Amino acid sequence: MAETQIDRRLLLGGVALAGAVIASPAASAQPAPAAAFAPQPLPFDPKAVPGLSEKLLTSHHDNNYTGAVKRLSAIRAEFGKLDPATAPNFEINGLKREELVAWNSMVLHEVYFNALRPAESISAPLAQMLERDFGSQDRWAAEFAGIGKALGGGSGWVLLTYSRHDGRLVNTWAADHTMVMADGAPLLALDMYEHAYHMDYGAKAGDYVNAYMKAFSWHHPNNAFRRASAA
Ligand SMILES: [Fe+2]
Repeated sequence: MAETQIDRRLLLGGVALAGAVIASPAASAQPAPAAAFAPQPLPFDPKAVPGLSEKLLTSHHDNNYTGAVKRLSAIRAEFGKLDPATAPNFEINGLKREELVAWNSMVLHEVYFNALRPAESISAPLAQMLERDFGSQDRWAAEFAGIGKALGGGSGWVLLTYSRHDGRLVNTWAADHTMVMADGAPLLALDMYEHAYHMDYGAKAGDYVNAYMKAFSWHHPNNAFRRASAA
């Protein structure tokens, strides 16, 4: 979840890619190297988040997030055993679809949990960009919370996303883990799946959104915006 973890993941991906480049066509049926993904611990004290209980946060982390990370490793190991030249289409399609679901679930949950670190103010560059693209920080917050409440009763994500393609910020709506903007960097993620709030708020999704808007910190969005806008 920390930057070093992201670097480690990139490194593992790079090793796998290098292996693929030097492999000969005749070796395509050999198993692909499998890189296991490791769940990251909560980056904050779960007893200290206002409005979200320790029980809720640890259940969310230990069951839903950790489950996605373990599933991702298992899916990739399974796909690595396939001979892509002869495997049935349904098997390839199914595993690659589930890989994307699990991978995005891992990433978005890490963005979600990273924003619940202790409070930090918004950085000047991100504040200026919010003002430019939304008119004001209040307007951004109203949109972000409104999209979350609109998802209440369903499930999905609200993402403050930086479009590298256009150099702009936008709040994006996702009904599942795969609905993310192409070339977008998620800076802040609001989890609207019931497992994120039901234990504390029951069916009152709006109250959970209000609590989240008071609890999140700009620490991760500040850093993620700096990295994405510099790329
Ligand atoms: Fe979740």
